[in-house]
Amino acid sequence: MERKAIACAAVLALVVGVAWGKDDVMGRAKGIFKPIPGKAKALKGNPATPAKVELGKMLYFDPRLSSSHLISCNTCHNVGLAGADLQETAIGHGWQKGPRNSPTVLNAVYNIAQFWDGRAEDLAAQAKGPVQASVEMNNKPENLVATLKSIPGYQPLFRKAFPGEKDPVTFDNVAKAIEVFEATLVTPGAPFDRYLSGNRKALTATEEKGLALFLDKGCVACHSGINVGGTGYFPFGVKESPGPEIRPEGDTGRFKVTNTAADKYVFRSPSLRNAAITMPYFHSGKVWALKDAVKVMGSAQLGISLTDDDAGKITAFLGSLTGKQPKVMHPVLPPNSDTTPRPLTN
Ligand code: HEC
Ligand code: HEC
Repeated sequence: MERKAIACAAVLALVVGVAWGKDDVMGRAKGIFKPIPGKAKALKGNPATPAKVELGKMLYFDPRLSSSHLISCNTCHNVGLAGADLQETAIGHGWQKGPRNSPTVLNAVYNIAQFWDGRAEDLAAQAKGPVQASVEMNNKPENLVATLKSIPGYQPLFRKAFPGEKDPVTFDNVAKAIEVFEATLVTPGAPFDRYLSGNRKALTATEEKGLALFLDKGCVACHSGINVGGTGYFPFGVKESPGPEIRPEGDTGRFKVTNTAADKYVFRSPSLRNAAITMPYFHSGKVWALKDAVKVMGSAQLGISLTDDDAGKITAFLGSLTGKQPKVMHPVLPPNSDTTPRPLTN
């Protein structure tokens, strides 16, 4: 029985090997990447309804989630700027500079876990972080709930989004509503997705050569799946440590989450979708040109020095990962009442 299975596997490998001749770039790519699904991903324990998505959108844009009433999720994850902020590292409460670059929220629902170090398991767990972080929104859950309860327009929206709950205005529900909204922030229809669906002409010859290099040089070991990344944790500096100007020594990444020596300078591989428009790069945000980031990856992760020409082709391929950007109409937010806590400006 077992021997038969092994024989079968060998035949299969042979067939696949032949079918995936080295030149069959499309065939190989289809086995490794997936297009962005047409339908929003269903979230565990948090079913999406139109009312919940709409509430989540309002909360995402509402700066009253922050203690200053100035900073919303959209400040650092601007849906008009590919879900990012074009800053090296995030600027938050009181103009404080945070330690890490704001990753895009677009397609984040397809990442294995959230944050550069994967410390939040999903988008709902993630959303509670920035509200409370002193360098981001600097708020307290109790103060946020009191603020939302003081805004009369929010009551019916929470009731509609969480029907049957006696007291639906809670911090948990804020996070849940934001999560279902974020799950709609996806970018299907990139040239690469059309290519994966069988349209060879969707990529230019240069982009397809870049894809072949991406596969052959080994980038694909850490950047695969729906998001062309976001799938696992890897040391930043497998072969060669990047200098402290790119990988600051103080940020040891996943080591702070797991306290395991092997996790020093380990980070989640980022999704490369929309990378061409979400500069600057890396958790430090220190590299502004995508081609330079590609070269850093070559030396740090693969121990190779990519030629300018090869790096250019790979960069062209990465450009084919830019999808249709979500068009989000800015919501009208319900006004304060006399009992709404005043903004804290320090
Ligand atoms: C002051 C800027 C700032 C604000 C405000 C902010 N974020 Fe972020 N966000 C960041 C930074 C920086 C990170 C990365 C932090 C890390 O990895 O340690 C991040 C990470 C994320 C991620 C993880 C993405 C990924 O691929 O890992 C999501 C999702 C996200 N934020 C959503 C939100 C939501 C929702 C809000 C509002 C409740 C919000 N953020 C408010 C700066 C901000
Ligand atoms: C061993 C795993 C691994 C390999 C191989 C690898 N990467 Fe990465 N990549 C990562 C990790 C981890 C990061 C995040 C590094 C950080 O900022 O801490 C990253 C970051 C990036 C970024 C920056 C994205 C952003 O939004 O900041 C780009 C671009 C990138 N990789 C492209 C490539 C290319 C092109 C190759 C092949 C030449 C490659 N990677 C090979 C793991 C890998």
